[in-house]
Amino acid sequence: MRKYFIQTYGCQMNLHESEKLAGMLESLGYEFVSQPEEANLIIYVTCCIRENAEQKVYGHLGALKPYKVANPDVIVAVGGCMTQQSGAAEKLHKTFPFVDIIFGTHNLCEFERLLKEKQGRKKALIEIIEDNRERECIPMRRNSYPNAWVNIIYGCNNFCTYCIVPYVRGRERSRRIEDIVAEVKSLVQEGYKEVTLLGQNVNSYGNDVKGEEGYGDFADLLNAIGKEVKGDYRLRFMSSHPKDLSERLVQAIVANPNVCHSIHLPLQSGSTSVLKQMNRRYTREDYLAKVALIKKYMPDCSISTDVMVGFPGETDADYEDTLSLMKEVDFASAFMFVYSPREGTPAAKREDQIPAEISKSRIMRMVAEQNERTALHSKSYEGKTVEILCEDYDEKKNLYLGRDEYGRMGYFSSQENLIGKFVKIKVGKTVGISLYGEIVEVR
Ligand code: SAH
Ligand code: SF4
Ligand code: F3S
Repeated sequence: MRKYFIQTYGCQMNLHESEKLAGMLESLGYEFVSQPEEANLIIYVTCCIRENAEQKVYGHLGALKPYKVANPDVIVAVGGCMTQQSGAAEKLHKTFPFVDIIFGTHNLCEFERLLKEKQGRKKALIEIIEDNRERECIPMRRNSYPNAWVNIIYGCNNFCTYCIVPYVRGRERSRRIEDIVAEVKSLVQEGYKEVTLLGQNVNSYGNDVKGEEGYGDFADLLNAIGKEVKGDYRLRFMSSHPKDLSERLVQAIVANPNVCHSIHLPLQSGSTSVLKQMNRRYTREDYLAKVALIKKYMPDCSISTDVMVGFPGETDADYEDTLSLMKEVDFASAFMFVYSPREGTPAAKREDQIPAEISKSRIMRMVAEQNERTALHSKSYEGKTVEILCEDYDEKKNLYLGRDEYGRMGYFSSQENLIGKFVKIKVGKTVGISLYGEIVEVR
């Protein structure tokens, strides 16, 4: 019996690529198992955005060694962003010679061939290619019902000075509007209730193919989906680079009622000087102007963000600028990170790295302040009725859960399985980003 196990690290992009790998394997007759020790094919799809993401992979591979030694016929494969870094595949091979297949981010759809080539051969198979080619492998095994991810643009051209993504994901490559619309349409017809359009920077959708037949910009894409795909579903997207968020785009969001009024707008820093050193290509004032633009058209829009402390050379004043901007914008929620030097990026070469103790105290205060804000946002929901798309069931809490349009997590109890239904709940208590309520209506 062919059984596979996939462990995925990192962002939605990776989770979605694992759905493609899973689809391919199931079409070859493999069956999914939830433990590596039950599988005869084990795949790790890796991330390298921060050092701790890589350490996790190393830890799991180390723990797998005894199983592989006892079961030499089991195939272990490692792919994803970590292996795509220059020199990383060789380093991985040296450290874990028992890994059978090492592949990158661009040859995912060729995994079937790699698997065949590996069979009957003792030596490890290492194949990393640089060409950012199409990754339209089908079928997919989607495992996030009622949510579905749809890639609209691969790669990144921005080269923020701290970030490894452009090196491991290659240059931007947009998919055709027609193909994206067809995919969204079939998902909605199949009963998916929420579609998230994915790209490192969805706002630069179409830039690589400007003026070419069959493409347009991100606003055109939203308008095309709005026109062609009618139905009871939510449309989301992530991430939006602030420098490319245009008035036309905000208008397209407002014009298409399926698009959620919820924007993830990574800030990174509130200091213009740090933003410049990060090569973000906007200032503090520019960022605030984009927030004002969003609020002008959509006063109800929730804005969430990514932010970082401890970028090389970050002064106390820079850090305070970030805190004050976070306070001013009053983000609905934020992912907060300590800067992690990534080999090969310009920022990692700088000599003015920030000592770990300083970064640690900066992140702790930032997290505490944002948590307070997030909790206050939730509190403002108490007594109100909100509509949740039921996504899952929490066994420990014995409650169903899902998010509202603005990204708040709502929990409620039900005898009936409501996954995939829109559920109106009246909010009682709130904890952190979570709302707890009673069902008012189900549709
Ligand atoms: N393309 C997305 C971000 C992808 S990475 C965008 O530009 O919005 C997700 C987040 O990880 C980034 O927004 C950033 O906050 C963080 N990040 C990226 N590189 C990092 C590094 N070297 N150290 C710490 N955090 C990092
Ligand atoms: Fe990284 Fe910047 Fe590209 Fe986002 S936009 S993936 S942070 S280089
Ligand atoms: Fe990680 Fe690659 Fe995503 S580095 S965050 S998995 S694009």
